[in-house]
Amino acid sequence: MKLYQGIHSLQNYLKGKRAQNLQIGFVPTMGALHNGHLSLVKFAHQKCDVVVCSIFVNPTQFNNEKDLEFYPRPIKNDIKLLVEAGCHVLFHPQTSEMYGSGLHKDSSANYGSFIEVLEGAHRPGHFDGVITIVKRLFEIVEPNEVFFGQKDYQQCLVVKKLIARNFRNISFNQCVIEREPDGLAMSSRNVRLNIAEREAANTLYTALMHIKNNWTRQNWLNAISKARAIIENNPLLNLAYLSVAHPATLQQLNAFEEKAVALIAVNCGEIRLIDNVLLG
Ligand code: PAJ
Repeated sequence: MKLYQGIHSLQNYLKGKRAQNLQIGFVPTMGALHNGHLSLVKFAHQKCDVVVCSIFVNPTQFNNEKDLEFYPRPIKNDIKLLVEAGCHVLFHPQTSEMYGSGLHKDSSANYGSFIEVLEGAHRPGHFDGVITIVKRLFEIVEPNEVFFGQKDYQQCLVVKKLIARNFRNISFNQCVIEREPDGLAMSSRNVRLNIAEREAANTLYTALMHIKNNWTRQNWLNAISKARAIIENNPLLNLAYLSVAHPATLQQLNAFEEKAVALIAVNCGEIRLIDNVLLG
């Protein structure tokens, strides 16, 4: 696996690959890799000739200084995992390489109301930071295909919109959520949960599955109430939101619809957990 920290050396390498008509697949991450990230690398491997992964803990998308400070950065282990997963190129830039001397942010204004709800409402400026860095990474890597996880459902919608606006020749791939055996969605932040919190955390999946298994015109409202109670009855969990919404607009349903998405965010001690499940 090739490792680049500089933009120009990465671009020179990829220029050579493009000249050979090879398809470039790209998986952006913030590192602390787990099987969720690695599944994206494997999908990219199946579809593309050259798999590029980036590891960059993007400061402008954090709205909590402690979260940024304590975000795990086990780069040596990440490199080992990427080699094992068949990644061809790792781009691991410094903050100055990506932002120059100042941390500017693009604006997500005019993206549509789907960006203002859920994570957008609870983490002001978060998607401005995501858009800024993903746009910059796409401009640098110029991939043919990009791979993102459904785990960050709203982020997928944001990136699809960015592609529709600025990168029409990039194909977007949304990949399934990888889970621990008890259902907890894999996340880089899970390693920061203590034993009791870790046990409480799988309740998110229990609540979401309760909605999925009762997704009928007759039962849907009761199922949402029950799911909410499952979270609220757990003293270690603090519910930020549970929304059952239209899959594209993310507007909360006020009548039953066959196709929907249930999205949840919970604070568990210092750690924020999110998850979602498609309905219908
Ligand atoms: P990060 O949280 O590191 O996630 C990188 C990619 O891995 C995202 O597309 C995310 O949805 C996916 N992912 C995370 N957990 C997953 C799981 N359990 N199953 C499947 N895929 C999973 O998302 C970001 O980084 C950043 O916002 C980024 C896009 C890199 C911009 O900084």
